[in-house]
Amino acid sequence: MASKYQHLTSEEAEHFLTKGWLHVPNAIKPEYLDRWMKDFWTRIDYDEHDKTTWTSPYLHLPRHREVSAEEFAPVAWDKIVDICGGEDRIDPIRERYYGDALIINFGTEEIAKREPVFEPSAQAGWHTDDDWYRMFLDSSGNAMTVIHVFTDIPEQGGGTCVCEDGIAGVVKYLYSHPEGLDPPLAAKHCAHVNECKQYSTVVAKKGDVILLHGLLPHAPSPNFLHYARVITNPHVSLRSPYNLNRPDGDYSLLEQVILRGLGRDSVPEFKPTRERKTWYPRNAGFKRAYATAELERMIAAAKAQGLDESSVDSLYLRRGTKEFEDFEKRNGFDKEVNGESGLLMEQHRLPLQT
Ligand SMILES: [Fe+2]
Repeated sequence: MASKYQHLTSEEAEHFLTKGWLHVPNAIKPEYLDRWMKDFWTRIDYDEHDKTTWTSPYLHLPRHREVSAEEFAPVAWDKIVDICGGEDRIDPIRERYYGDALIINFGTEEIAKREPVFEPSAQAGWHTDDDWYRMFLDSSGNAMTVIHVFTDIPEQGGGTCVCEDGIAGVVKYLYSHPEGLDPPLAAKHCAHVNECKQYSTVVAKKGDVILLHGLLPHAPSPNFLHYARVITNPHVSLRSPYNLNRPDGDYSLLEQVILRGLGRDSVPEFKPTRERKTWYPRNAGFKRAYATAELERMIAAAKAQGLDESSVDSLYLRRGTKEFEDFEKRNGFDKEVNGESGLLMEQHRLPLQT
């Protein structure tokens, strides 16, 4: 069957529509994987060959570098554009660049000794990503969650788990809460996921990209292999809220997933009952707090090789420039902190982490 999309096959479109995600193999330019992993151990100050130095089993790092989404992973970007219904629907600034905010699931020696049994329906931590805006059914701030795979992720290796039949419960919850949800989301909209039946845990190769609908519930799975599993987890943000009432039926795949979950052809009656709001991303608090110490280690490592500070590639060395200002805008760091919920200053925890 001929596809009506430019870059998605009919099978890929159907997979995204029915399961809420799509695996795009070998999609990241290798030069970025190599360049951004080169000083990985320097940044975190762990010894690659001595696991006793891996003191935190889970780390979320800040960005020091970023490039445009289409430069980083062109094939994946083309598919993102199709899924969003055209590039003109994508926010031209917010989250348009992808970077090296690495997320590492190391596992632990203790977890590696356990029977490697992972039961998603018994799992805690199911969520959708949103730490920076009041979320309504039609909110498209985190239209897609994108997993960039920086190391191979074997079976039992701590890949993200998604709940394919959980999206319907999320959209029904949001439909019945037109007042919207403010971060931190208490995961009430994902409370049903433990009753679901269809789960899939990421197994991938370095360089792969996995595209998730922004309302697809997901959770970390245990890394039973006790190695450094590295991903990043940026998003796609749209220019405007979803339109769930298009008389011409020209719904994007993202919108179709929502309508399918609701069992509707259109939702003309949905209207948020509170104003839309955005804030500084709450989870950036603890991640950005690492940046200064990381930078000091990167500079020290350069000097140890006889190089000077200018050889270190970090946006944090270019504060006060237009480039830094643009970086701040792209990531929402120019917005006000939500005075009620403040910033999260504590690293997320993993399932089975003691
Ligand atoms: Fe997430």
